[in-house]
Amino acid sequence: MTAGKITLHRLREMKKAREKIACLTAYDASFARVLDEAGVEVALIGDSLGMVMQGLGSTVPVTLADMIYHAACVARGCERALRVADMPYMCYASPAQALGNAARLMSEGLAEVVKMEGGAWLADTVRLLSERGVPVCAHLGLLPQSVHRMGGYRVQGRDATEAEAIREHAKILQSAGAMMLVLECVPRRLAARITSELSIPVIGIGAGPDCDGQVLVLQDVLGIGRATKHTRNFLDGDCRNIPEAIAAYVRAVKSGEFPAAEHGFD
Ligand code: KIV
Repeated sequence: MTAGKITLHRLREMKKAREKIACLTAYDASFARVLDEAGVEVALIGDSLGMVMQGLGSTVPVTLADMIYHAACVARGCERALRVADMPYMCYASPAQALGNAARLMSEGLAEVVKMEGGAWLADTVRLLSERGVPVCAHLGLLPQSVHRMGGYRVQGRDATEAEAIREHAKILQSAGAMMLVLECVPRRLAARITSELSIPVIGIGAGPDCDGQVLVLQDVLGIGRATKHTRNFLDGDCRNIPEAIAAYVRAVKSGEFPAAEHGFD
């Protein structure tokens, strides 16, 4: 293993030491290399590739073959960062289906962790995968694969009942064996509480500054994605090129400068 290679163990140490974790999406080898050199700890091969690479309207049509292809491309550019890859829509509807598809994402796509969107209903799946040696990252809050059920891309957990449910789901998934959690678009206070209650690293996007780390979609950091409240274009001001912008993102996450209050939700 490359010296300094980021592992799940290292991310746990960072959480304990209160050292912020910088995570960014990557979809190809060239950008993966830039991320790696900038000190990004987690390269997320997100199914957001459906939107930013394929021009689709949502992540729903992304296939396992797409994910394997992009994850394998990223693996060729990345030496240090931990590679987490999304299990796409309907690839984990049952534990057995999830196990077969996660195995392909790891053996063909060279993913090191697989990410799945959903709550307690995934506990058996997380348990089975963990027992079989597949590390799992859970994903709660706004679930883009459920955009049609959720009625759009909206902040989750604003009312007390919903917030309590998200907290419960997080605990259940950690107990089932999840080794990381992505929290998307939830109020700052809820994210802070979940982060302090869990022992696994919690990576936020639109979840305020108190998570153990932050993730953004690469194109948003470079000002060519959707400009939303929780994103920031780092390819501006003093940054003259893409590597400088990505390094600025890493510095801003590490120092706590990003996300600022204006990037979060109450
Ligand atoms: O697909 C993706 O890029 C993601 C992040 C936005 C968390 O899941």
